[in-house]
Amino acid sequence: MDRNLALEFVRVTEAAAIASAKWIGFGEAKKADGAAVDEMRSRFNQIEFSGTVVIGEGEKDKAPKLYTGEKVGKGGPPEMDLAIDPLECTDSVAFGRYNATTVIATGPKGTLLSAPDTYMEKIAVGREAASVIDINYSTKENIQNTAKALGKKIREVTVVVLDRPRHELLIKEIRSAGARVRLITDGDVAGAIAACLPNNEIDMLMGVGGSTEGVLAAVPVKIMGGQILCRFQPPSDDHEKIVKDAGLDTDRIYTAEDLANGTMLTFTATGVIEGPLLPGVVFQKDKIVTHSMVLRGTSGTLRYITTHHDAYKQ
Ligand code: FBP
Repeated sequence: MDRNLALEFVRVTEAAAIASAKWIGFGEAKKADGAAVDEMRSRFNQIEFSGTVVIGEGEKDKAPKLYTGEKVGKGGPPEMDLAIDPLECTDSVAFGRYNATTVIATGPKGTLLSAPDTYMEKIAVGREAASVIDINYSTKENIQNTAKALGKKIREVTVVVLDRPRHELLIKEIRSAGARVRLITDGDVAGAIAACLPNNEIDMLMGVGGSTEGVLAAVPVKIMGGQILCRFQPPSDDHEKIVKDAGLDTDRIYTAEDLANGTMLTFTATGVIEGPLLPGVVFQKDKIVTHSMVLRGTSGTLRYITTHHDAYKQ
């Protein structure tokens, strides 16, 4: 894929982040999300490429913009799959909480799994522990194996978990295995990526989160040499049917490679509100400062980009 295209996508996540950050704390989740969607869509359509949204805002009848299947871009080569979340952690923006990002993952046409929007059980770790986890192992075994692979004592291992009632047992298991739990209100994409970053306090992500977020996280986790293992966990018969109708299997364990195939992948995220990955948007008198990360699969490069936007030209 064209090197410059990965950097073009930063302009897209930056613009979406600025637009949604203007809604921080007003209790308006839909407006925050809508601002990010509008900006992301219009910026995509200024770039020369042919993108198909494979993970987007939802089905066409429910999400008129950036819906699954929508074509974006000015047209022409390359043809790419897009997994996007114009605003990952909408409620964090609406209520002024922690950890919100705008996210784009890409791959050549046909490489990203178009997972339906339901839930998945997930476990993610960075490179050193990539081969020692198994979603069928007990929580304790996964933690012990990860600690060993990282050369850490178990009490030094930190597991990030979404703060949800469904995780009550998991949290007990992690603590009784002797590891630390870091609870987050939202944002398991950032949680999975954080587990792969060196010098980050987070070592593992565990628990059940969005399935579309599983695909979004698989791209950066894979580029950084880590592993994410996912299994659909549809909460109802209707959701189970959606998974089956999509030709997917609720018993199968999906690896990072199954979710994001090949190496020509890119991942771009810009912080909206600070979290384990990135600082948020900073509004100054004359400037708006954004913080982004860009990962390219072919080179494995991770770039951090700080941009000072002219506040009068936004
Ligand atoms: P949104 O981007 O839809 O706000 O998702 C935030 C999030 O916390 C994800 O990171 C996570 O995968 C999912 O929600 C968990 O879903 P739920 O809030 O229903 O437990």
